[in-house]
Amino acid sequence: MLSNKTILVGITGGIAAYKICELIRRFKKNGANVKVVCTPNALNFVTKLTLQNLSQNEVYVEEFEVKEWKPEHISLADEADIMVIAPATANTISKIACGIADNLLTSIACAFRKKMIIAPAMNCNMWNNPGVKENIRVLKARGVEILEPESGFLACGYMGKGRLCGVDKIYDAVCEGLNYSQKLKGKKVVITSGGTIEDIDPVRYISNYSSGKMGFALASSAKQMGAEVVLITTKEIEAPYKIVKVKSALDMQKALDEEFDSSDIVIMAAAVADYRVKEVSPQKMKKGVNEELTLELVKNPDILKGLCEKKTHQCIIGFCAESENLIENAKEKITKKGCDYLIANDISRNDIGFGSEDNEVVILDKNGGMKRLEKASKSVIACQILEAVY
Ligand code: PMT
Repeated sequence: MLSNKTILVGITGGIAAYKICELIRRFKKNGANVKVVCTPNALNFVTKLTLQNLSQNEVYVEEFEVKEWKPEHISLADEADIMVIAPATANTISKIACGIADNLLTSIACAFRKKMIIAPAMNCNMWNNPGVKENIRVLKARGVEILEPESGFLACGYMGKGRLCGVDKIYDAVCEGLNYSQKLKGKKVVITSGGTIEDIDPVRYISNYSSGKMGFALASSAKQMGAEVVLITTKEIEAPYKIVKVKSALDMQKALDEEFDSSDIVIMAAAVADYRVKEVSPQKMKKGVNEELTLELVKNPDILKGLCEKKTHQCIIGFCAESENLIENAKEKITKKGCDYLIANDISRNDIGFGSEDNEVVILDKNGGMKRLEKASKSVIACQILEAVY
C-alpha cells in the first residue's frame, strides 16, 4: 500500500533509535522506498549496517558525501514524499525550530517542504523544559505533526512523559500523512478478528489458530483510509480506534448487534466457532475412570448469515477459510450466506492464513465476479481488499 512512496526516516541520538528498525521493516514490507538519514549521535544506538540492510538503501550521515551533482540535503529532500524524524531529541527539535542546519539531517529538515512528522523522545525534565516546549509550539504552528511522547518508565530511570510513542502510531501517522486514499472518510467500518473461545469449564476451552492479524490489518488500513473503525476481537491489541474485546461466538454476535445499525461496512475476518459446549461446567472437570470423555456440542448462530438477512445499507464482507476446493466452496458459501463479498483463503498452507504475516486470497462478489490477490503481507492484502470492495 506504500509502493511508489519514498519515506525519509530521520534518526537522532536517543536510546529509542533501535525501535525504528521495526518501523523501517514495516514500511519496506508495505512496498515503500525508505531512505534513512542519521545524526552522528544516532549511530551510538543503532548501526549503519543494520539500517542499510533494513532499508535496502545507503544510509546517510554526513553532508558532502556527494555521489551526484546535487548536494544530498537537497536531493534527499526533493525525492522524499514525507519525512519522519524518530526518535527526535531535544537538540535536533530545537535546531529545526531555529533553522539550524549543522548536519545532514537538520539540513534536509531545513530544506524540506512537504509533510514532516516528528516523534520526540527524551528525559521527562527535558520534555518539560520551557525552551523545548516553545520549539515544539513553533514547529506545530509551521504545520509539523508532533507525535507526543508517552508517559511511563524512561531509560534514564525516571518516571514521566518522554518515552517514544508506539511504532504503530508512527506508522499510522505516516500513512495518513501520505494522504492514503481517504475513500472511507465518514464511513463506519466494523471488523471482527481472532478465534472465538468456547468454554468447556473454568480451565479448558475450544478455539482455533486465528491470531487476529488479518483483522488487525483490515482495521489499520480502514483507519488509514479515514474510516471510523470498530474492531471486535478476541485478542489483546492496543490501537488508535475503538476496540470491543469479546470471547465466545455469542459475545461476538452481541457486540456486532450493538454496532451494526450505524455501520457502513462489516468485515467478518474472525474465525467463529460453529459449535459451543451445550453445558459449560462451573467447576474444573475431573478426570474420570473411563478412557473416553464425550462433550456434547450445540450449534452457534451463523452470525454472518444473520447480518446479511437484516442488512439495510451495509456492505457485508465475509471470509472463507477452506483447506480444499477453495473456489467451489467459496462460491457455495457466498450464496448460502448472502454477503456482498467473500474473501477466500486456503488455510491448509502454512505460509498464509492462520497466524502468518502474509495472505493470498480470492475476492468473490455476489454477482459472480472473482479477483485474485497474490501473496503479500496482510497489511497489503487488507488495503487491496478495501480498495476492491468499496
Ligand atoms: O487471524 P489470522 O491468524 O490472521 O488468520 C486469518 C483467518 C484465516 C482467520 C482469516 O483470513 C479467515 O479466513 N477468517 C474466517 C475464518 C472462518 O471462520 O471462516 P469460515 O469459512 O469457517 O466462516 C465463513 C464466514 O462466516 C467467516 O466470515 C466467519 O467469520 C463467519 N462465521 C462463521 C461461523 C459462524 N458461526 N458465524 C460466522 O459469522
